[in-house]
Amino acid sequence: MAGGWWYRVWGAARSSLVTFGLGLYAIIAIPLLVYSAVSCVVGIGFLLVPPQLWLLGRVADAERVRLSHSLGSTLEPPTNRPFRWLPALIVDRTVWRELRWAVVMLFGGTLLGAVGIALAVLPLLCFAAIWLWWLFPADDPIRIVANVPITGWLSAFTVGVAQLTITTAAAIVCGPFLARSGLWISRSAMRASARIQLAQQVAALQRTRSGAVDAHAADLRRIERDLHDGTQAHLVALALRLGLAMRVLQRDPAAVAPLLEQAREGAEAAMSDLRTVLRSTYPPILSDQGLDGALAAVAARCTVPTRILVAIGDGIPAPVEAAVYFVVTEALTNIDRHSGATRAHVDVRMADDHIVVEIHDNGRGGIDESRGTGVAGMRRRLEALDGVLTVDSPPGGPTILQVACPCG
Ligand SMILES: Nc1ncnc2c1ncn2[C@@H]1O[C@H](COP(=O)(O)OP(=O)(O)OP(=O)(O)O)[C@@H](O)[C@H]1O
Ligand SMILES: [Mg+2]
Repeated sequence: MAGGWWYRVWGAARSSLVTFGLGLYAIIAIPLLVYSAVSCVVGIGFLLVPPQLWLLGRVADAERVRLSHSLGSTLEPPTNRPFRWLPALIVDRTVWRELRWAVVMLFGGTLLGAVGIALAVLPLLCFAAIWLWWLFPADDPIRIVANVPITGWLSAFTVGVAQLTITTAAAIVCGPFLARSGLWISRSAMRASARIQLAQQVAALQRTRSGAVDAHAADLRRIERDLHDGTQAHLVALALRLGLAMRVLQRDPAAVAPLLEQAREGAEAAMSDLRTVLRSTYPPILSDQGLDGALAAVAARCTVPTRILVAIGDGIPAPVEAAVYFVVTEALTNIDRHSGATRAHVDVRMADDHIVVEIHDNGRGGIDESRGTGVAGMRRRLEALDGVLTVDSPPGGPTILQVACPCG
C-alpha cells in the first residue's frame, strides 16, 4: 500500500503519545491519591478520594475504548458508574483494577510512550540537522545519534543521511512494536483475573441469552400478529366468497364470475401479505443481491446522500448478514428522521473474524436510546449474535455508530 510505512509510523507515534500522556496522568494521579488516602486519617481524605477515583474511572473507560479499537474488543465495555463515596468504591474490584492499571502506566506507560515518541521524533531531527547544522556554533556542533557531530555539508550528507536512514528504519521497525507493547501492558493491567472474566462472560451470556429469547419472542408475536391480521383475514374472506359462489352457482351461474374474481383478488392480497411477513424475517434482497447490493438499495432510499463502501468476502453467516442489514436500515432511517445531516457514509469491512460496520452522519447528534426502540433493538439484535454496538453521538454531532459482530 502506498504510504503504508508512513501511516504505520504516524499511527505508532500517536499511540505512543497517548500511552505517554496516560503515564503522565498516572504520575500526578497516584501520588495525589496516596496523599488523599493518608489524609483519611484526619477525615478530609474521605472527601478527596472519591472525585479522584471517579476521574480515574473516566480515564480508564476512555482507555478501554482505545484498547477495544486498537486490539479488538476483549475488555468489558465502559461502565456507566455514578459518582460514589468511599465505602462503595472500596468494595468494587473494578476500582482496584483501575488503580493497578494506573500504577503500571506510571512506570511502563511513561517509559514505553517516551521511547516510542523519541523513535518517531528522531528522524525528523536528523532531517532538520542535515539542512540546519550551520545554525549551531562550530565548537558545539549538533549531535543526534551516537554523539557524532555534523560540522559541514560533507558530514551533513554522509553522517546526517546515514543517521536519518538508521533512525527512520528504527522508527518503522521498532515504533509500531513499542506502540503495541504500550497497548498490551495497558490491556493486561486493565484485564480482570481469569475467574472474574469467566464470571463476567457468564453474566454477559445470561444477559444476551435472555435478550435473544426476548427478541425471539417479540419476533414470534409480530409474525403471529401479521399472519393473524393480514393473511388469515384475507383467507377467511376468500373462504366466505368461495362458499357464497358455490351457493349462488345453483341459482344464478352468471353471478358467480364477479364472486370468483373477488376471491382471486383476495388470494393475491393474502399472498402479498405473506410475502411481506417472509421479507421481515430474512429479506429476500439479501439472497438476491448479497449484502452490498441490499445495503446500496437501502442507501438509495435514504434522502440524505449516503456513500456505501462494502469490503467483505463471502461466507458471512446469514443471521449476521440479516442483522447488519436491519441495523444499517434502522440507522439510515434514523438519519433520515432525526439527524438533519447533509451527508452520511456506511463502511462495512472485515477485521480478523469480525464484520465491522461504521455508520457516520454529520448531523446534530445526541442519540438518546431511551426515547425509542430502534437503537435498543439494534443492540439486542447484535448481542444475540455476540456482537456489540458502540454509539458515539455527542450533542451537536457528528454521530458514529460502530458495529462489531463475530462471523466465526
Ligand atoms: N442519527 C441520529 N442523529 C441524531 N439523533 C438521533 C439519530 N438517531 C437517533 N436519534 C435520536 O435518538 C432517539 C432514539 O432513536 P431510536 O431509533 O431508538 O428511536 P426512534 O427512531 O425515535 O423511534 P423508533 O422506535 O421508531 O426507532 C431518537 O428519538 C432521536 O431523537
Ligand atoms: Mg429509530
